[in-house]
Amino acid sequence: MQAIVTDGLTRKFNGLTAVDHVTLQIKKGELFGLLGPNGAGKTTFIHMLCTILPPTEGTAKVAGFDIHQNPDSVRAAIGIVFQDPSLDNRLTGRENLDFHGRVYGMSKIQREKRIGEILKLVELEKRANTLVQTYSSGMRRRLEIARGLMHHPKIMFLDEPTLGLDPQTRRKIWEYIQMLNKQEGTTILLTTHYMDEAEYLCDRVGIIDYGKIIALDEPEKLKDQLEGDIVSLEVPQPRKYAEVFRGSKYVKEVKVVGDYLHLTVTGAEKTIPKLMQIIARHNGKVRSVGLRSPTLEDVFIRYTGRGIREEGGGVKEEMRLWAKASSR
Ligand SMILES: Nc1ncnc2c1ncn2[C@@H]1O[C@H](COP(=O)(O)OP(=O)(O)O)[C@@H](O)[C@H]1O
Ligand SMILES: [Mg+2]
Repeated sequence: MQAIVTDGLTRKFNGLTAVDHVTLQIKKGELFGLLGPNGAGKTTFIHMLCTILPPTEGTAKVAGFDIHQNPDSVRAAIGIVFQDPSLDNRLTGRENLDFHGRVYGMSKIQREKRIGEILKLVELEKRANTLVQTYSSGMRRRLEIARGLMHHPKIMFLDEPTLGLDPQTRRKIWEYIQMLNKQEGTTILLTTHYMDEAEYLCDRVGIIDYGKIIALDEPEKLKDQLEGDIVSLEVPQPRKYAEVFRGSKYVKEVKVVGDYLHLTVTGAEKTIPKLMQIIARHNGKVRSVGLRSPTLEDVFIRYTGRGIREEGGGVKEEMRLWAKASSR
């Protein structure tokens, strides 16, 4: 049974195609990740599925309901955690949850029971009665996740759930996401531009770039496509050496990312000395050498020719979020 089915889903803004004919299926109970750089179309995609934004073209079914024909049923079946903070800071945690429950028509008894359950899930019981403005950013995020769960949604949309959080808090959020997927059986569609998040959490990952899904599979299978190890060489003029290695029998693939040369090789122990010899022959100096198994970043690089955070958009995005949060 499918939780989400999209068919040629497309959204244009003036001349720009933000989401470009996306056709995919997400199974019931699945933890699905949409991974892509800033501006790839992740938020726009989610907003269409949540019936916040009408598509320019194409259709989708969410929890069995058509987004055009049954938007109210779609909304009742889903929970959303928005990319930008959307809590009321002048209310307590409990009041924020209670308000949400009222909007969804839950009775007082239902609300009280559910608030107790979800506060426990995100470990906020002790702070439930203090104002949200005193919460840390991690606590706010946890409360937003709890709020999305209030009305027992079948499907949860999490738009960049750990954006701008410190590593420790991110891990905690990952635990909650896994718990609500496993324990509550909630289907999850999350977006992220963090490869480690997609890799660690998701059953399947769709890589999105310029509105198109360019790769879709389990994280392990995506990485297996690269068949080999990645040697990263930090060298001056990496582009010059990229040309040298492009013809080399030792190297399967060559990519330049910043000051680094990423070479896909098999049998790295034997290959690395050969690569060093070749660079030495061209009077090059290697500043550092790294060897690792492929990550989803490498998969992204393979399909797009650039790194996922290369535009520096991630930093900009975090600053935007920070500015927004502190202006309240
Ligand atoms: N309301 C809007 N009006 C015009 N352009 C928009 C609007 N919302 C998003 N876009 C553009 O659509 C593209 C995709 O944006 P978005 O879905 O927010 O990407 P992501 O969430 O992956 O960062 C971007 O180029 C963005 O500037
Ligand atoms: Mg976004």
